[in-house]
Amino acid sequence: MSFEPSARIETVLSEGRVFKPSSKVQSTSTISGFEKYQQMVDSAKSDPNKFWGDAALKELHWFEPFETVLDWSNPPFARWFDGGKTNVSYNCLDRHVLNGKGEEIAIIWEGEPGDIRRITYKELFMEVCKTANALKQIGIGKGDLVALYMPMIPEAAIAMLACSRIGAPHSVVFGGFSSEALRDRLNDGEAKVVITADGGYRKDKIISLKKAVDSALKNNACPTVNSVLIVQRTKEKISFNPERDYWWHELVPAQSSECSPEYMDSEDRLFVLYTSGSTGKPKGVVHTTAGYNLWAHLTFQWIFDVKKDEIYWCTADVGWITGHSYIVYGPLSNGVTTVMYEGVPRPSNPGAFWEVIQKHKINIFYTAPTAIRAFMKSGRSLPDSYDLSSLRLLGTVGEPINPEAWMWYMEVIGRNNCPVVDTWWQTETGGVMISPLPGAIPTKPGSATLPLPGIEADVVNADGDSVNEQEGGYLVVKRPWPGMMRTVHGDSKRFRESYWEFLKPKDGSYVYFAGDGARRDIDGYFWIMGRVDDVINVSGHRLGTMEIESALVSHASVAEAAVVGRSDEVKGESIVAFVTLEGSNELTDELLKDLKMHVVNEIGVIARPDEIRFTNALPKTRSGKIMRRLLRSLASGEEVKGDTSTLEDKNVLDELRR
Ligand code: WT7
Repeated sequence: MSFEPSARIETVLSEGRVFKPSSKVQSTSTISGFEKYQQMVDSAKSDPNKFWGDAALKELHWFEPFETVLDWSNPPFARWFDGGKTNVSYNCLDRHVLNGKGEEIAIIWEGEPGDIRRITYKELFMEVCKTANALKQIGIGKGDLVALYMPMIPEAAIAMLACSRIGAPHSVVFGGFSSEALRDRLNDGEAKVVITADGGYRKDKIISLKKAVDSALKNNACPTVNSVLIVQRTKEKISFNPERDYWWHELVPAQSSECSPEYMDSEDRLFVLYTSGSTGKPKGVVHTTAGYNLWAHLTFQWIFDVKKDEIYWCTADVGWITGHSYIVYGPLSNGVTTVMYEGVPRPSNPGAFWEVIQKHKINIFYTAPTAIRAFMKSGRSLPDSYDLSSLRLLGTVGEPINPEAWMWYMEVIGRNNCPVVDTWWQTETGGVMISPLPGAIPTKPGSATLPLPGIEADVVNADGDSVNEQEGGYLVVKRPWPGMMRTVHGDSKRFRESYWEFLKPKDGSYVYFAGDGARRDIDGYFWIMGRVDDVINVSGHRLGTMEIESALVSHASVAEAAVVGRSDEVKGESIVAFVTLEGSNELTDELLKDLKMHVVNEIGVIARPDEIRFTNALPKTRSGKIMRRLLRSLASGEEVKGDTSTLEDKNVLDELRR
């Protein structure tokens, strides 16, 4: 894996605009002024155990207090808050109800067809208890893995919280994934039950979730799955297997609304969430109870600083980590009103986001650069026609945001009245790591600015030494933090090797390598340059090139495939596949369509190649490794630069150019 600085950064580094927190923002922020931020950084650095220990005692409820803050005696396997007992659903629900917040709204939900539900903390608490009891009734207990394959409906959040209440870790599989992808994840995690819906709405169509579950489970392909719990959402006809299937609306309402929370050890698993790696199958990222809860809670509080009666909306899907940490756990642990929206902007309603902001008077809006770029492209007249004056703070996440998109976001959506926070983090980090604190840190368009207190981020070379200002390098984190992933499910070797042993500092210490390249400017600000390995970031979703290649190669006509990303104005990156065909197969438009469809069926619609090029051979090194660097240049129409001496057959390049 070699480091190739991205062209993206060249324009970014000449960025000279700086926006200081306005006096209004500064005076109304809890973390107010740079000095306050600096104080937090200093105290976290001088005594991390005290810093995290105090935060954990203050921000979470403990049935039994912890004995140690961090146990790092067996790196890279960290243990946080050992000896402590807590429960995430208690922190998200019970304590708010007990503190007199039961009548306040926990979730405002809007469905794609426009149906709306407002759920108070008390109601959410009762629903979660009933669902927890329902899970118990179908044989789920502490430690059993519960898979969720659901649309963006309140029951998704309810199910996650119900799992945490009884100590059953969840594994949420994004509803846009195919049945094959679902089956792999069910088997890898050994799920006992799947919670799903008959269907869900996506862009004015119905996606048949239950049908996908049925085909994932067909022929006993997932032997650990004993039951399927189905929410009725679209009321379409489904096939119902009485030996295995349960209707949510029959099972859940019949339960008692009392269910005492399981006393969980700090390091008990809270969830597994699959994410793409550069090689092989997706990794089941494991997060545990107390550390994750604290990190989602604290980062949400520090960055969004939600005030009483404010409404917060994150546009992600609960199938991604952003949905876990910043739709469900972060906001609810803080007792905030969180908005869930089932829809996305679509031809029948391109202004859907602005309509939701106007209707629900959203104060804090958190979305992805890909969405911002799409809106930019279609012009400002659409957002201009809505009342967005409730907005106070804007956030972005998922991929680097270009300075121009950042400016557009601030000017057109924020009407120059809202700070923009560009938050860098990953599934693996549990919560945000590098981000402006709006009342304390001046922003620069395109930079995620500075690490949060307690996060020791750095940019290093292959030896693990810090690089100079303005130089590119690997983004690393040099000290454990509470929200860090604990392992890869079932593969601790992969966890150790891919995240902690890729870079080996001479002093033998362990540093966490995020897989991203970055630079720091003269102010120490971080500029993220994107992934350095073969992972493509399409619309903020990480896809392993290997997975897509494997899907293509599983098609009968394909001999070999190489997939690369090409930078894309709207999606960040688009997918370009180079394919060689088996023997006598001919390239036809028919086959082209068929291949794209095949990838959709194997992985899901987000992995559909934007372009497929056929070739007689792929460029390879003498050791047989596909030279993706060359393909990347070809895909983006650039001259192939750099060393081609390791190329086995130079003619291949000429053919590809043609
Ligand atoms: C990768 C993580 C974190 C939730 C969404 C994606 C990229 C994420 C930023 C940002 C530049 C970013 C990185 C990272 N990324 N946020 N603000 N600036 N890049 O989670 O699927 O785990 O992907 O997304 O490349 O490694 P994920």
